[in-house]
Amino acid sequence: MDRLHIVGGNTLRGTVRISGAKNAALPILCASLLARGDSVFRNVPELRDIATTAKLLEHLGLTVELSPGCVAVHTGDSIGDDAPYDLVRQMRASVLVLGPLLARQGRARVSLPGGCAIGARPIDQHLQGLRAMGAEIALEHGYVEARVPGGRLRGAEVHFDMVTVTGTENLMCAATLARGRTTLFNAAREPEVEELARVLNKMGARIEGAGTSMITIEGRAELQPVDHAIIADRIEAGTFMVAAAATGGDVLVDGVTLEHLEAVAIRLRQAGVHVEREAGGIRVAGKPPFVATDVSTAPHPGFPTDMQAQFMALMCLANGRSTVTETIFENRFMHVGELNRMGAQIDVDGRTAIVHGPVRLQGASVMATDLRASASLVIAGLVAEGRTEVLRVYHLDRGYEHIEQKLAGLGADIRRVQGED
Ligand code: EPZ
Repeated sequence: MDRLHIVGGNTLRGTVRISGAKNAALPILCASLLARGDSVFRNVPELRDIATTAKLLEHLGLTVELSPGCVAVHTGDSIGDDAPYDLVRQMRASVLVLGPLLARQGRARVSLPGGCAIGARPIDQHLQGLRAMGAEIALEHGYVEARVPGGRLRGAEVHFDMVTVTGTENLMCAATLARGRTTLFNAAREPEVEELARVLNKMGARIEGAGTSMITIEGRAELQPVDHAIIADRIEAGTFMVAAAATGGDVLVDGVTLEHLEAVAIRLRQAGVHVEREAGGIRVAGKPPFVATDVSTAPHPGFPTDMQAQFMALMCLANGRSTVTETIFENRFMHVGELNRMGAQIDVDGRTAIVHGPVRLQGASVMATDLRASASLVIAGLVAEGRTEVLRVYHLDRGYEHIEQKLAGLGADIRRVQGED
């Protein structure tokens, strides 16, 4: 498995172009199941999760052509109905085919995604909503066995017990071809949900309210294929913003809109980082030590859980005591142990990590355990004294396109080496 070798101490300067949003591309690619014909998706990042989604769609009978930054999909008259365990276990977002399959053909057999490093991550809300729309769902031998008596879902009022991003996306897709109107209450407001609604409406759906907590969908008889360019990845952008500040740098994070990162910008400014719109991106400049800042993750427009680990790395360089509270996932502090091995002083008390700073981080060999934990270790390595080796870089490759090239382009001393293990 590949590793990243980083020698800390370089200041990041220059411009970095942000790639398309992974968490928008995944539901949008799955939505191509809803319409017969040829769709084209542009600005799609070249990531492991995109390749996995392509394999899943091909398994379901679609033809998928991946070229740099672009995915062409042909959906025929008949499609499969099963998403097998060996694909779903690689990427839990595979559950996003459930809504489209039930909408399109009234049956689906999708492996339960199981838990992952950051938590149990059940899909009960997805299933509850689909049942409300008329699906009969049984859980057998680790699979969701779903069918729609009469073949077509019916519109319903769906109340989510908690905000769920892919739950909202699955139900929104399912409702586009249902009979009648569906209303989603307590829906997720993430920009990626809005982007999916934008694409579905281009396909002929009638969705209103995406980006708010109440979304209405008028079911249609069929949808049309689409040609669409995906929005930029706000979490990749936020990651580079933190890296720029942590190294005392000055970087233009290009191609992303600040409005998708307001909560992150507010906390960075509070910590003493300069953040402002510039041209088609965001200018970020900072110099340690920072102002100790408390943050608590929340559904959008709150502080994103996907930026929690990166922000924690920054607070290691702040004067005094900062608290980082994770309210979304039950086990998303696995980067703490590795940061402490690099000289950080972080205590965990339940869902809150207390970060004492500033500390002088030292390079070390560290292990990544999930996508964003890996990113926080890379940021720590950029500022640590000496050399850091980040193992299991495949976690990073799931969500960051060419991360070492982009960082090296900003002046970081970083390179990928083929791992022995
Ligand atoms: C999406 O995951 C993202 N993934 C995650 O990004 C992100 O961290 C998460 O939303 C929160 O913003 C994609 O969009 C592909 P949830 P998702 O359903 O939809 C509980 C990354 O780093 N819940 O919003 O799986 C759940 O356990 C990834 O790119 C239920 O209990 O997250 C969690 O505690 C990591 N039952 C909370 O809700 C359900 O049916 C929020 O989960 C659904 C969710």
